[in-house]
Amino acid sequence: MTDKTEWQGQVGTSWARQWQRTDRSFTPLTERLVARILECGDVRRIADIGCGAGELSIKIADARRDANVLGLDISADLVSAASERASGSPNLKFAVADASVWQDPSFIPDLYVSRHGVMFFDDPVAAFANLATSAAENAQMVLSCFRAPSENAWATKIASLVPSAPSGDPHAPGPFAFADPERVKGILSEAGWTDVGFEAVDFDYVAGSGEDPVADALDFFGHIGPAARAIRMLEGDARIAFLDRLRELAHEHLHDGAVRFAAAAWIVTARKN
Ligand SMILES: C[S@@+](CC[C@H](N)C(=O)[O-])C[C@H]1O[C@@H](n2cnc3c(N)ncnc32)[C@H](O)[C@@H]1O
Repeated sequence: MTDKTEWQGQVGTSWARQWQRTDRSFTPLTERLVARILECGDVRRIADIGCGAGELSIKIADARRDANVLGLDISADLVSAASERASGSPNLKFAVADASVWQDPSFIPDLYVSRHGVMFFDDPVAAFANLATSAAENAQMVLSCFRAPSENAWATKIASLVPSAPSGDPHAPGPFAFADPERVKGILSEAGWTDVGFEAVDFDYVAGSGEDPVADALDFFGHIGPAARAIRMLEGDARIAFLDRLRELAHEHLHDGAVRFAAAAWIVTARKN
């Protein structure tokens, strides 16, 4: 589980420091997501939900100079990283905001986009209903989220190294909260969205590359995701043993000069009812 208070605190700070590596881990997905977004036609106001350090917002603003893009995120550190990266883009702004209650009468989106930024709402129906209310008529939505943990080796393999990892509620806010398409369809329909569609995207999640890909992956895992959480919780010998197992796992996944894991996402599309 990762809730909004964690994003506002230490988890957001880590992502803000590691954005080059998180962007790298999503590279093939981002290409497909951007292509799908650019098929949305004549949209002029685009809001990026949970924009993080801003890669998706920046790519869309560059590709659509005729549109205004607003990146929204609940983490002040991530918005600050995004604003710094994007300075100079005339059609792009970022704001610290909780998307589940955000409304701005001076910016009525006709398209919402998101790369993995919508799975952390405490009450997803209320959040998506708010987004519908805040959007133009016939507004569209193109979002990505992870599919099931069993299809995401980067998560299951790390989880298998953690002593007594809690199984938890699969629908709790977190990376896999939107894995079940029936659930997502139900949430969006109840919240005022229709024509809900799902495209499966399989991609290589690159955790380490460069001169020493294994060391790079270990450093990345030490800051982001389930391994970072385990490292924070473990102490002494248990911590050392976990780091050894993590190093072995990274070695096992070293192929073609990079540490790679199978990853699986949905691109979810919908239209305001
Ligand atoms: C997995 S990260 C993805 C970040 C970014 N979209 C990317 O692809 O690098 C999830 C993001 O959602 C943001 N987030 C979580 N809850 C939010 C909320 N209620 N409103 C706005 N942003 C939120 C987090 O701060 C974080 O930046």
